[in-house]
Amino acid sequence: MTETWDTIADWYAERVRTGSAMHEFARDVLLDRLPADLRGQRILDLGCGEGLITRALASRGGAVVGIDPSPRMIGHARAAEQTSASGARYAVDDGCSLATVATGSVEWVTAGLSLNNVPDLTAAVSAVQRVLVPKGHLVFTVPHPCFEAPHARWLDDGDQPRGRVVGTYLAEGFWRSANPDGARRAGNQHRTLSTYVTALVKQGFTIEGAAEPTPDARVVAEQPQRAGLPPFLLISCRRS
Ligand SMILES: C[S@@+](CC[C@H](N)C(=O)[O-])C[C@H]1O[C@@H](n2cnc3c(N)ncnc32)[C@H](O)[C@@H]1O
Repeated sequence: MTETWDTIADWYAERVRTGSAMHEFARDVLLDRLPADLRGQRILDLGCGEGLITRALASRGGAVVGIDPSPRMIGHARAAEQTSASGARYAVDDGCSLATVATGSVEWVTAGLSLNNVPDLTAAVSAVQRVLVPKGHLVFTVPHPCFEAPHARWLDDGDQPRGRVVGTYLAEGFWRSANPDGARRAGNQHRTLSTYVTALVKQGFTIEGAAEPTPDARVVAEQPQRAGLPPFLLISCRRS
């Protein structure tokens, strides 16, 4: 079977909810760039999945809507809301159009590990610009383009990984991981770092910050080979 985000949604929700150090690290790295108190702020969480980041934003007091094109992911997000209400709301929508989101209706857009899934980055950045108020913020993470390029792998020496082999950084486009236990078996759009930056600048965003976070102790305990490399690239930027 060819996997999609919808077909792996049950697996993904289970993985996130049983405590994935990497997903929690990615969430926390992103949340660190937003105010602790989000009362009075309207937020769109683009590519929300089962709602890991969306719930955290709502718990800071933000008026949050999470969108995702996978109906099954949104089903999991809504089910979590039934069990323990955070105040987050959800809609099935595509990050390339954001058809359910009104123009100029949010102060913040967050996108945790999702812009690397949209098929048309220019369309997604344009849609984000449309829904943000002037001077509104976009904060996003993507798997680090330099180290998570298609089919990058660990160079093993017995049990001791000795580094990362990256073969095809410049070849942009859709690729699918052969790892049956990895989320990228659902597919992933590889783009170079400069493609992300250029798309933002062309759309009139001002880049205010970037980070390549050092994996925290929990991530390293789970995946020791990751100790020397940043798993994510984070960019925070502002609409004109
Ligand atoms: C790695 S998951 C991240 C989910 C969530 N943000 C988190 O941190 O747990 C990537 C998400 O991107 C979503 N996605 C795929 N294509 C998308 C698109 N065109 N627009 C918005 N989101 C998309 C997937 O359905 C999936 O839920």
